[in-house]
Amino acid sequence: MSGSFKTVFGAPVRLRVMSEQSFTPALGRFALPRVYDSLIALTRERVWRGSVAMHAAVRGGDVVLDVGCGTGSLALLLRRVEPEARIIGVDPDAKVLAAARRKTGADAVEWRVGMGDALTSVTESGSVDVVVSSLVLHQCPVAMKRAILGSMLDVLKPGGRLVIADFGEQRTKAMRLAFRLVQLADGKDDTQFNADGKLPGLMSDVGFRQVREAETVSTVNGSISVYTARRG
Ligand SMILES: C[S@@+](CC[C@H](N)C(=O)[O-])C[C@H]1O[C@@H](n2cnc3c(N)ncnc32)[C@H](O)[C@@H]1O
Repeated sequence: MSGSFKTVFGAPVRLRVMSEQSFTPALGRFALPRVYDSLIALTRERVWRGSVAMHAAVRGGDVVLDVGCGTGSLALLLRRVEPEARIIGVDPDAKVLAAARRKTGADAVEWRVGMGDALTSVTESGSVDVVVSSLVLHQCPVAMKRAILGSMLDVLKPGGRLVIADFGEQRTKAMRLAFRLVQLADGKDDTQFNADGKLPGLMSDVGFRQVREAETVSTVNGSISVYTARRG
């Protein structure tokens, strides 16, 4: 266990170490999963998760990987949209995965413990049709953002799709102000890169093609962007 601490929704939490790396958990040490889900609902969750589902356009038989799946809301939504797809949710935090497993329909999703930069620990290179991820990259250091994107590219089949929903460029004064809530919780070091609109450039840098910001959704704590890209 690492001895360092970080704040999540204002509460100090210990950073846990896996394979020499740390991650920021979705929940504070004493918070309940339903508290996390209630907080996320305030971010117009239905709008941006619905947009991810639309852009992911999952088909029967597809293999879909939700990276940093947390309490499983997105993986479960995709499962409802396309029951014939194989959906895998991966997250380094066994506690949030336990919460995901308790939700309705969870038996139909495969839940795996793993880091986003080591996705070949849960699936083979070139085996995934669609990678999705929501609200993960904004809280990771830039080196980890890059490593996660690289690992996503690696596990996608040629032509496979990536859909990411996360805090993106904060274009208006109101959104920059609202985004301070996220920066209070997750710190400025990891989040400013997203707020400066640099995520699409990083996606291109690691080798993704057809990178675009498909949607932006204004929320109480900043603007969430839905990015789409493909493996060439
Ligand atoms: C804010 S939560 C978002 C959870 C979920 N995707 C959602 O949309 O509700 C961020 C999640 O990312 C996970 N996470 C943090 N660092 C990670 C990493 N390096 N690789 C994979 N997941 C990570 C955390 O454990 C947490 O569950």
